[in-house]
Amino acid sequence: MVQLTLPANSKVRKDGRTYSTKSGDGAKMRRFRLYRYDPDSGENPREDAYNVDVSGVSMVLDALIKIKAEADPTVTFRRSCREGVCGSCAMNINGSNTLACTKGMDELGDGDVTIYPLPHQPVVKDLVTDLTKFYEQHAAIEPFLHSSVADDETEIHQTKEDREKLDGLYECILCACCSTSCPSYWWNGDKGDPKEEYLGPAALLQAYRWISDSRDEKRSARLDALDDPFKLYRCHTIMNCAQVCPKGLNPAKAIAEIRKLMVNRPRASD
Ligand code: SF4
Ligand code: SF4
Ligand code: FES
Repeated sequence: MVQLTLPANSKVRKDGRTYSTKSGDGAKMRRFRLYRYDPDSGENPREDAYNVDVSGVSMVLDALIKIKAEADPTVTFRRSCREGVCGSCAMNINGSNTLACTKGMDELGDGDVTIYPLPHQPVVKDLVTDLTKFYEQHAAIEPFLHSSVADDETEIHQTKEDREKLDGLYECILCACCSTSCPSYWWNGDKGDPKEEYLGPAALLQAYRWISDSRDEKRSARLDALDDPFKLYRCHTIMNCAQVCPKGLNPAKAIAEIRKLMVNRPRASD
């Protein structure tokens, strides 16, 4: 069996501190284990434990807010809408990427709740990852309409059927749960040379969203830009992406549809 040796400073220490929130009559205690890391400290990451009174707490994000308010104000995480719309509270909860604000406490099963940042991304602090690369990859697919209609007044019409082709694509909130759960993206997503990088399921789902838009005039150029062994063809249909998407989308299917278009499209040499 292959033995992997992680760099010493990446190992997560399990001897972190323990904190507790306020508790009173009727308290229902639950233990959370949170990944704590401050790259500027020079220390290894560690797990801290938090005993939390979860009576009246319905979502995991509410528990994190309670931890920060009552036990440890230094715990760092991102959130904004609390409605599953902005994508900022994406993190790894009990081993699976998801949104903390839509993950119900009643979905967690028994035992400790472990919360880690999205995998394989640089950590800014604790549960906050640096998604710069992820956003650059999204920008690379040109996520906007290419149209020769130059003025802002003219409406570009679409049939009802054409509009429906965008269902299952436009709903993406760019939370990065899918890409950061994809083993191919882990190994091929950030090689330092954009020509040798897999764009990952989120960017490719978005690419397909614009390829499928009947109003867009650059479909062929969009396909040309993806016709590359790394950008598109590193998907091995492992399906982690579809399993974790909190919006119920299927990036693997979008990737397969792009591949079909690649095979069927006319070539200059045909
Ligand atoms: S496809 Fe789903 S998991 Fe991926 S970025 Fe969009 S909403 Fe998030
Ligand atoms: S199906 Fe493709 S994109 Fe989705 S997780 Fe697997 S390899 Fe990644
Ligand atoms: S806080 Fe916006 S998606 Fe969770």
